[in-house]
Amino acid sequence: MFVNDCLNINSSGHLTIGGCDTVELAKKYGTPLYVLDENVIRENCRSYVRSFKKFYNGNGMPLYASKALSCKELCRIVNEEHMGLDVVSGGEIYTAVQAGFPMEKVHFHGNNKTADEIRFALESNVGKFVVDNLYELELLNKIADEMGKTANISFRIKPGVDAHTHNFIRTGQIDSKFGFALETGEAYDAVKKAVTYDNVCLKELHCHIGSQIFDIEPFVTAAKIMVEFMGKIYKELGVVISELNLGGGFGIMYTKNDEPVPYEDYMEKVSAAVKDVSAEQGIPVPYIFIEPGRSVVGEAGITLYTVGGKKKIPGIRTYVSVDGGMTDNIRYALYQSEYTVVNASHADKESAEEITVAGKCCESGDLIQEHTKVAPVEAGDILAVLSTGAYNYSMASNYNRIPRPAIVMVNNGESRIIVRRESYEDIVKNDL
Ligand SMILES: Cc1ncc(COP(=O)(O)O)c(C=O)c1O
Repeated sequence: MFVNDCLNINSSGHLTIGGCDTVELAKKYGTPLYVLDENVIRENCRSYVRSFKKFYNGNGMPLYASKALSCKELCRIVNEEHMGLDVVSGGEIYTAVQAGFPMEKVHFHGNNKTADEIRFALESNVGKFVVDNLYELELLNKIADEMGKTANISFRIKPGVDAHTHNFIRTGQIDSKFGFALETGEAYDAVKKAVTYDNVCLKELHCHIGSQIFDIEPFVTAAKIMVEFMGKIYKELGVVISELNLGGGFGIMYTKNDEPVPYEDYMEKVSAAVKDVSAEQGIPVPYIFIEPGRSVVGEAGITLYTVGGKKKIPGIRTYVSVDGGMTDNIRYALYQSEYTVVNASHADKESAEEITVAGKCCESGDLIQEHTKVAPVEAGDILAVLSTGAYNYSMASNYNRIPRPAIVMVNNGESRIIVRRESYEDIVKNDL
């Protein structure tokens, strides 16, 4: 009935998530409120780990891309589920350290890691640096030398694959700010350079072709290109790179129009491609990593809002204002992301009213969704926006000095706060 399996409707006609009544959650914790279903997150992690075992003899590890949603409790959960972590900033490293995450299972990404971040990552014994450019390679080698350390590194490569997704979330093509281009020889030159440096050890090659991708083909093509490149490096430089990181990007369901590929299908085809091309190239089958973010937490999450004013503009549209907006979900304003909206107070009623959900920020573009259908809505109703577990809290801001919402985790009818709601005190705490 809903795009997300963890959702249901109870005898009061209210939307439920993980066995909890969303209207009751809104009453207990206030709105706006992010709600995550723990079982869905854990089951998503397990499906990745299982498919590695099934199709690749367990010769690899999925890393959770914590940019999708970083907080201590999620670090603890993915560690319990035997996954590693992909981080992109000092703040995400700090979160992992504070959660007691095993730092050797952490990959550090980013196209402009600062010297301070590099030092902090080395002090924290981060397992691998995914190096984005030559400036970073040299900076890392220098800082590692000063600190008497050797950094394990990977290179982020642009394999030149077009991933058929939104322009802002495509990254594998040559015109991208991320990584070394393959076709210009830039990636090859970087490998030649890295193997001569004393304080970095090149272990892995990495690619990530984009996000919210529904085709398996671009992933398979990218994997083949990467293994061929590993073969070239072996043949021409005698260097064996034993690890391959194929990034994230697996699409999820935001609306009924989305058709995610079952993860096993991806893993089956990509594993076969990696094994076949490794054999053709005469190189050992690499240990592989993948970096799912959105597909671990996206569908596990919803956002609850309380409806305020309603503005009917005859012949044009009906605006329904909620007590959050682009400060907790910027994705519609940023790239017109589609979402399913449900009137959680009347989830048993037909979706008969067309509305535009407007946020409370001082921006006309502060919309959550336009022309979407919900059960007839009035002030005080709870609206639920589905599939908001990824890139919502992690992209939240304090625009208009609006405090960030809390995150509540639900599990089989129980709920607990995992991230507290910000207070007005929090808003001014750095002001002097
Ligand atoms: C390098 C890298 N890995 C993994 C991810 C996670 O992608 P997704 O959340 O689509 O799985 C991203 C997202 O931008 C990324 O840039």
